[in-house]
Amino acid sequence: MLKDILLQDYPNGEKFAIALSPMDDITTREYRTICKRYGADVLFTEFVSSDALIRDVEKSYQKISFSKEERPVGIQIFGSTESALVQAAQRVEELNPDFIDINWGCPMKKIAGKGAGSGILADIPKMLSITKAVVKSVKLPVSVKTRISYDDNSTPITDFAEALQDCGIQLLSIHGRTKQQMYRGNADWTLIGKVKENPRINIPIFGNGDINTVEKFMEYKKRYALDGILIGRHAVGNPYFFMHCKQAIMGKEITPITVKEKVSVCKEHLHTICDNMGESRAMVMMKKFYSRYFLAIQDFKPYKLELMEAKTIEEIDFILSEISSNLA
Ligand SMILES: Cc1cc2nc3c(=O)[nH]c(=O)nc-3n(C[C@H](O)[C@H](O)[C@H](O)COP(=O)(O)O)c2cc1C
Repeated sequence: MLKDILLQDYPNGEKFAIALSPMDDITTREYRTICKRYGADVLFTEFVSSDALIRDVEKSYQKISFSKEERPVGIQIFGSTESALVQAAQRVEELNPDFIDINWGCPMKKIAGKGAGSGILADIPKMLSITKAVVKSVKLPVSVKTRISYDDNSTPITDFAEALQDCGIQLLSIHGRTKQQMYRGNADWTLIGKVKENPRINIPIFGNGDINTVEKFMEYKKRYALDGILIGRHAVGNPYFFMHCKQAIMGKEITPITVKEKVSVCKEHLHTICDNMGESRAMVMMKKFYSRYFLAIQDFKPYKLELMEAKTIEEIDFILSEISSNLA
């Protein structure tokens, strides 16, 4: 059972999973590996288009490549038709991840507008029949990541979570926003908690949305008694958050992270992307991370401007070394 692979035995006797939420252009193999080292129990790849996988688009296969150190890892796919998702799942199965995750949660117009991602929440019967077909078409466990509903007036997750379970999925991750909300407002975890409370639900339920402090993590973990929590935006440039959450679970003191350690992780991230994808890709991708790696570090601002304007990896390395020596 997927449950046995995903949920980790914590020293306090409980089974739980802290997962790195999938994020396009962020949770690359290089960053997933860093998060794993800092304690993420479960990793998801960035989502990839089913159509692109079927068409053998190399970039999509690169996005879902993973190393054995990452296990347990799920490959996430999106699509709007049964035929595309089934064929893509079969392709993904050949790569032998621990599970295949169907994205029924993305709200972006170019995806949801075509009936993929959270667009499917407007047609729950279709969501169920595609999910069932995907489960049937592969031997690997299948999971679903979705949102609480299409909008405030449509069928809530509490009304179809059981039906999703009956499709044969082995994990359900729920982001506490509607499709209509996109990323606005606050995530509402009450419906996620209700799904978990349903006595007929026996697959793991992971909650997601707006966990941005260790205190909130601990509070929500206790309040909603879920099997796992997915961390998205707050893990960007902050892989230590996984370690800090674990320390909190075990009642240990939270280890502060020095600027030197942040620089060293940032350099590793930059260089592994450069080795795997080339310098220009690394330069572009890392721009999303610098402010996050050095968030709240006093006097970082002038270095940020330099990092954004740098043209080569050597320049970045030099600026990072300056940060390491000059900022405490
Ligand atoms: C830049 C970005 C990219 C994302 N890409 C994906 C994705 O590929 N697949 C997915 O299921 N969710 C994706 N998400 C949604 C996150 O996984 C997560 O559900 C959402 O950000 C809420 O969690 P958080 O508040 O912890 O960030 C993305 C979010 C962001 C901000």
